[in-house]
Amino acid sequence: MILSWIEDAKRKAVLKALQPIKNGWIIGIGSGSTTAYAISELGRLTKSGKLEVSIVPTSHQVENLAIAHGLRILSMNEAFTVEYAIDGADQVEQTSLNVIKGGGAAMLREKVVDSAARKLAIVADETKLSKHLGGKQSVPLEVLPFAYKSVQTQITRMGGRAKLRESAGKAGPVITDNGNFVLDSDFGRIEKPIALERRLKAIPGVLETGLFINMADVVYVGLSTGEVKVLESN
Ligand code: 5RP
Repeated sequence: MILSWIEDAKRKAVLKALQPIKNGWIIGIGSGSTTAYAISELGRLTKSGKLEVSIVPTSHQVENLAIAHGLRILSMNEAFTVEYAIDGADQVEQTSLNVIKGGGAAMLREKVVDSAARKLAIVADETKLSKHLGGKQSVPLEVLPFAYKSVQTQITRMGGRAKLRESAGKAGPVITDNGNFVLDSDFGRIEKPIALERRLKAIPGVLETGLFINMADVVYVGLSTGEVKVLESN
């Protein structure tokens, strides 16, 4: 199989992120095309008897993939301790390791699992790296369908623009795994992510944001050169 350099970079970043994993660990897995490589590699290691781990999935996508690869699955309520979480990103601020997530509309469960993990590793290819958060990258918000118009109005008052995410394989809006809508909210360049996160979470009807601030311990970045850059939080 010939992989584009981006797919190759994603896979290599994932392989490096898997290296610290030990037998018996409970591992949270984020959703998306990058973390899918983690599931297939963990499935391979499990089948060959080299590793025995349990997976806490963050979406139906990951759960279905994990089942297909014969991995042991635990729900978040069964997982006593999540030793490690591996998650993807839509944008990584290279200096702070703050991240915007939610391209796969799974940020609510991802934030629950990632924040419970002893260590969070983000995996991405180098196109996700950015000097600043925001800009062309909007912030996805998971919102209660009942409240989405009022949330949109509040975002406009804050100077942002919130667009209801439309579904690709279904008429109408994207419905998250939790039965909610997604508002992709454009704030331009984000100078104060902590303050923005606080304001967004204070809007009634906002269930979660795609801002993952001060959460990543390490970011594995697959480069076009074939190498993997490791960025660690201070
Ligand atoms: C899902 C996410 C994903 O991690 C993010 O969208 C990146 O996806 P991909 O690995 O397919 O580029 O946040 O909610």
